[in-house]
Amino acid sequence: MSTYANPSIAQAMASVAAATAKAAADPTRPVYHFRPPAQWMNDPNGTIYHNGYYHVFYQHNPYGDDWGHMHWGHTRSRDLVHWEHLPIALWPSYELGEEHCFSGCAWLTEQGQPLLIYTEVPLKSNDQRLPNEQWAALGDADWITWQKHPDNPVLSLKTHGGPAFRGEWRDPFIFTEAGRTFMVIGGDYEEVAAVALYEAEDASMLHWRYCNLLYQEPRMGKVFLECPNFVKLGEKWLLITAPYRNLEYISGTFDVTSLTFHPEQRGVLDPGFSNGVPNFYASNILFDEQHQPILLGWVRGFPKDRGWNGCLSLPRVLSLGADGHPRQQPIAALQTLRGHHTQVAGFTLDNHRQRVEQSQGDALEIIAQITPGNAQTVGLRVRCSADDEQAVAITFDGQTLRVADVAIPFTLNEQETTLKLHLFLDKSVLELFVNDGRKTVTQLIDAATDALGVEVVALGGAAQVEALDIWEMKSIW
Ligand code: FRU
Repeated sequence: MSTYANPSIAQAMASVAAATAKAAADPTRPVYHFRPPAQWMNDPNGTIYHNGYYHVFYQHNPYGDDWGHMHWGHTRSRDLVHWEHLPIALWPSYELGEEHCFSGCAWLTEQGQPLLIYTEVPLKSNDQRLPNEQWAALGDADWITWQKHPDNPVLSLKTHGGPAFRGEWRDPFIFTEAGRTFMVIGGDYEEVAAVALYEAEDASMLHWRYCNLLYQEPRMGKVFLECPNFVKLGEKWLLITAPYRNLEYISGTFDVTSLTFHPEQRGVLDPGFSNGVPNFYASNILFDEQHQPILLGWVRGFPKDRGWNGCLSLPRVLSLGADGHPRQQPIAALQTLRGHHTQVAGFTLDNHRQRVEQSQGDALEIIAQITPGNAQTVGLRVRCSADDEQAVAITFDGQTLRVADVAIPFTLNEQETTLKLHLFLDKSVLELFVNDGRKTVTQLIDAATDALGVEVVALGGAAQVEALDIWEMKSIW
């Protein structure tokens, strides 16, 4: 007999269980990134810290390793590093005319009950689909069993009081300021791609008033601003959007009296790209125990048909530099995964690729500090084959950082003489933090299973390797 009272959850969990052997057999699957037991995941949803647990829900297809049948998977963690799989939280309620449970957020009601607010996508009828709605689900005290709220929809386009968005109106994200609770939702109409702002009318979190458009831009070729996140970083605010290409950010000021956002700086949050898609997408944010904003994203672009697809990025502490651009840094708790440590004392590297003999692997953390000197190109190579013919290279030539096939404009600033590459390698995933999070790149890689070597590189001149640290990383599973 199934342990799940809800037959939709029981069926979905059984389907995931049936795929775990295939997923586990894949040597390219990451070992210290969170991912479901098997099958597909995309966006992190409902990321929140409560009562000593970090909860992360995620877009999940229990019925395949490709996108479809959107449920909400659920996991929790004490430290944002080790994760416990929990039963699937949300399922599409076909009897209520629901085809998918799209992305959203988690909050608490005034009675302290957990509440998920998400985008309901209606079933098609006669090939037509009604507009999306924003729905809520209430959880039990253990956050395990969820019920669709009897008062749904929480928001519908018929009555929301804002522009006549097209039906694709989605991905609610809640934030607070000055004791007030707000929600942003992506929407578009005519030639406008927008982030709409709503304010909670009371502490039930079920009644929302349309305020205005927090942000808008011409829609042009872009379809939509998916998964807007809006977060206060010091005195400034950061808006992150998923515009069907690499995530974009805009920093600026937010006037809570007039409810206006004044953009100042903008850019690409993470330029990693492979297999035709951005490799870090559809982010979400939570505040950790120390109230630090933590950014999480969906690592995407993996090959098909492996019994799994998609994982969560490593959690990143998000802040804003004095230049108004974001900084992303891996959380300190990841250090608990460090195993065997190799430390190489400083040395000069003159037009040479130096293999690190003491350490190799496909689950590593590497910190390399290199002063380029007169070398034209410096960097690292990982996943080097024994014959050295194949490798994944990360190089810097003073103007451009290259991570595998992706070229990213980057220069050392006036105070910096040293390039600091902080790299997390986890099988087919690279997450690179450059010069204390000034640039962050998530990149999927392809390498032969036995290509495990690490090299430091200085070509066209002599560079000084100031320090090189390599740790073998433990699996979290
Ligand atoms: C972003 C996204 C969201 C949507 C969800 C559907 O990746 O398209 O806009 O809610 O994924 O799975």
